Amino acid sequence: MTLRVIEGGLSDGRSVGLLILGANEIATLSGGLRAGPSQDQPALLRFDEASGSRAEDAPIVATWEDRIVAVGGRAEVERSLEAQGLPLARFARVDADGGTITPGLIDAHTHLLFAGSREGELRLRQQGAGYLEILAGGGGILSTVRATRAAPTEELLAHGRRWLEEMLSHGVTTVEAKSGYGLDLATELRLLEVAHTLGREGPLDVLPTWLGAHAVPEEFRRRRDPAEAYTRYLLDEQLPGVAAQGRARFADVFCEDGVFSVDQSRRILMAADGLGMRPRLHADELAASGGAELAAEIGALSVDHLAWPSAAGIDALADAALSSRPVVATLLPATTWFLMADHYAPARTLIERGVPLAIASDFNPGTSPTANLPLVMTVACLELKLTPAEALAAVTINAAHALGLGDEIGSIEPGKLADLAIWRVPSHTQIPYWPAAGLIRTVIKRGRTVFQRG
Ligand code: NIG
Ligand code: FE
Repeated sequence: MTLRVIEGGLSDGRSVGLLILGANEIATLSGGLRAGPSQDQPALLRFDEASGSRAEDAPIVATWEDRIVAVGGRAEVERSLEAQGLPLARFARVDADGGTITPGLIDAHTHLLFAGSREGELRLRQQGAGYLEILAGGGGILSTVRATRAAPTEELLAHGRRWLEEMLSHGVTTVEAKSGYGLDLATELRLLEVAHTLGREGPLDVLPTWLGAHAVPEEFRRRRDPAEAYTRYLLDEQLPGVAAQGRARFADVFCEDGVFSVDQSRRILMAADGLGMRPRLHADELAASGGAELAAEIGALSVDHLAWPSAAGIDALADAALSSRPVVATLLPATTWFLMADHYAPARTLIERGVPLAIASDFNPGTSPTANLPLVMTVACLELKLTPAEALAAVTINAAHALGLGDEIGSIEPGKLADLAIWRVPSHTQIPYWPAAGLIRTVIKRGRTVFQRG
């Protein structure tokens, strides 16, 4: 088996469009943000010869330049292309070979950029050490900070390319990438610049998030009230520098008892919001800490982890879901799994309360060293009890909304970016069913074939 990333270029020198034919199923995810019962409705188009589907009704997708221009039965799509003045001869054909077409997957929470690895902590946790205990002893996030500060920018770029290529091979076309392993201005700026550069290089889109408030760095640990001293530094020096650089699209905070308080998180995120960085949070990962309530209060785009939201926090998210500014709950079940914690986020309760759910990898060297988003879908089905359709909405349309990009990506609808994954299984229900199986056949990003299993 060879994996191949095809850099740039349309799939045929002269064509500017693609017709993707031969799918057994297209999960379009059309119809907007999913919440409650609609999270389980992937808006399917199916080809079912046995029950009398005719070839002219077989579902196909058409893309032109970087956008989707039509989706539906073949005859209907061809009519629509003619009506739009797009000659069929200008389209190259892509064969889905009886597989499934979904929107390109969106990983809305990653710590893409770091140096080193932390396999030793797996052993420590097996022996009973706690995550925050390891951090308090100068390990955990702080050991990655030491390695990342020392790493040349070229090394961070190479690391980013290596893991983005892996993500692409699993059908991912858009990635959020947090800083947070620098914690000093120079390294935080370097991480944000590397994330931006990787997105410019393509083929994946990479959206940088400033996570200066990831941990209190060593140089602040002997100060009186270290978290408060570092928070003041973030507000007075680091945030203005990050805003002046202009690369970070979002701001994030590790809001947790023993890390950054609700009050500190609020001050950091409100200040960042005022400078154009939309807030998102690590919240209630290890204990109910008031993070879900804060996310609703400040209108965060996304509130992430949520293994331990309080009853009041769930109420606040349920209320926000009914407002014009819903907060997407981005659950990270691979992290709970890898930390060997047996308490998962209350996904079924959140769905019953109408809270829109995304899921993401949380790719990082400590708590979730996997870039395999379909594997995370499997964990979401097994441990969060999501249906395969709910898990698919959680990595497509809802993840797009968690990034504020619900109008651009996350579903197969005319006008959206032509970001598509073609799978070697006949239905979306098999994507989480074969764990870590390498099910991708083809990935199309902005109308170009960027990955093809050889
Ligand atoms: O989302 N919880 C905080 N941050 C990351 C882990 C980072 C690390 O351990 O390096 C998370 O799990
Ligand atoms: Fe995280």
